[in-house]
Amino acid sequence: MKQGKILFGGLRSLDRELNGEPWRDARYTILLDENTFQCCLPALISSVGVLQEAEFIEVPSGEECKSLEVAAQVWQTLLEGGADRRHVLVCLGGGSVCDLGGFVSAGFKRGIRHIHVPTTLLAMVDAAIGGKTGVDFGGVKNSIGFFFPAELTVIDHVFCDTLDTVQTLCGKMEMVKTAAVADPELFRGLLARDGDLPVQAIREVARLKTRVVKADPYDLGIRKILNLGHTFGHAIEVYRGMPHGLAVGVGMKVAMYLSMKKLGFSESVYVAYSQWFESQMNAVGSVVPKFTLKDIEQMLALMRNDKKCADGDLCCVLLQELGAAVIDVYVSDNEVRDAMLHL
Ligand code: GLY
Repeated sequence: MKQGKILFGGLRSLDRELNGEPWRDARYTILLDENTFQCCLPALISSVGVLQEAEFIEVPSGEECKSLEVAAQVWQTLLEGGADRRHVLVCLGGGSVCDLGGFVSAGFKRGIRHIHVPTTLLAMVDAAIGGKTGVDFGGVKNSIGFFFPAELTVIDHVFCDTLDTVQTLCGKMEMVKTAAVADPELFRGLLARDGDLPVQAIREVARLKTRVVKADPYDLGIRKILNLGHTFGHAIEVYRGMPHGLAVGVGMKVAMYLSMKKLGFSESVYVAYSQWFESQMNAVGSVVPKFTLKDIEQMLALMRNDKKCADGDLCCVLLQELGAAVIDVYVSDNEVRDAMLHL
């Protein structure tokens, strides 16, 4: 499966790209939500000439847009507008709009091209790269979806200025996760920074992710390393209603604790991460959650539903050391209880 091109030159580079031959016949529809309509659409259409005439479709913000019902409404609008296979969907938003937009594009007339313009840090470094699309179904996140890479993903850090501190921390958490499994030096560099993220770090993480998904586009092997912290994080996200990135941050703490107990992962790295994470959470007015055994039982049920578990066994990604992740490590319920009580 061919992965699309990443444009690191921002909206201006998208403008140049769309004037090229492959896009000569294209007709564009912009998929956006209420927030990106207000905060990001003006920058997009003032920078990218061919989008000035584009139609747009607004969907609910956040996870709420990731449903078959919303996907059907978007298909209906495309059909009513006479869209054909020349149509290109430009997904202007965070991870949810990108996931939905990719899903809609994969299904419409057996597949139309789509372009991701991620507007959150999390989407720039993770969700908009690698072709995972999906909607939530049957109470399970991302349970219906396809691998269908965007033709182009445009990284423009100007959109980072539209984010609040929690959204920024969510993106930072996915960056720290990718660095933990793929680039120890970058991991240490990210933990050492207090304030703003250098644009260079966003690019480095986007490149790391691209390298991993090219090696394993269908998520059958090495790509699973990108799920560090996610088995626990998804359960915490659903159970506590925490934003995805923050829940992944907690999940990484659980995963590092288990890594220390089971694989000899460095205690000093675990402690450094825990202290850094706690200070980041405090800075955005959040706290690292505590769980009772009763909470953990309910989250264990959610974890067993997670698509990363085979035959009801709880499998997760752990770390032998920074940059050396191990996939499909079996963990017992008691080990999870111990790690989560330890938070
Ligand atoms: N977010 C993990 C992946 O794309 O595989």
